[in-house]
Amino acid sequence: MTITRTAQSTTRILRFDRVQRSAHWANATLFGVLMFTAIPLYFGSFFGIVFQRHVVEQIHLWSGLALPLPIIVSLLGPWGQQMRRDVRRFNYWTRSEISWMRTLGKSPLEADKFNPGQKLNAIFIGAAIIVMLATGSMLQWFRFFPVPWRAGATFVHDVFSYAIFAVVIGHIFMALTHPGSLRSIFTGRVSEKWAKTNAAGWFKEEQLTKDSPEPR
Ligand code: HEM
Repeated sequence: MTITRTAQSTTRILRFDRVQRSAHWANATLFGVLMFTAIPLYFGSFFGIVFQRHVVEQIHLWSGLALPLPIIVSLLGPWGQQMRRDVRRFNYWTRSEISWMRTLGKSPLEADKFNPGQKLNAIFIGAAIIVMLATGSMLQWFRFFPVPWRAGATFVHDVFSYAIFAVVIGHIFMALTHPGSLRSIFTGRVSEKWAKTNAAGWFKEEQLTKDSPEPR
């Protein structure tokens, strides 16, 4: 009994491959730089510390232009197979996932690889990348756009910034309070016990594909 339990908690299942982990950390670094530089751009200083505005603007602009690259590179080519499979999961919502979301996690759910909250987070980040890139480009190359468009772009860029700060802080809080998930974005793996408790649907799927004679 003890042996089974130990074996169960030590068997590791691959949750994120190397491509996904690299994409996550490259994306997180770019978001971190953008959020850091956004503070002096918005307030004129970073909590009292004044940086050269032109330098801050350039760092913000180039990190912004690079923002979609980690996701695009990780999705393309033969190395992106698992990334593409996971992105498809974000699009797929069952009735029980929708009601889990509506009841704020109170209704029963056999969770997929990602719970509905994690799926929403990923969808938001994907949308934010597109919106910030589009509005940021309009702020940079403003000459090509009429004044009302430029005002609209500034407004949307600012409003999305607030939302990004809230979502990213929430994401970091959830990661720090869920050590199993946090470990998996460093090592790529979770224990069987973690998978059964937090992602039972995915765990069953993994067992089926493992037992199946078909190539994956
Ligand atoms: C995490 C994502 C991002 C955040 C939180 C963010 C936030 C901000 C904030 C708060 C400002 C100041 C706006 C104001 O003064 O009202 C700003 C300015 C700007 N952002 Fe972003 N931004 C992000 C992504 C991007 C991206 C992807 C681009 C791509 C081109 C970009 C380009 C710019 C430009 C050109 C400015 C104007 C700088 C200036 O001349 O004052 N940003 N951003």
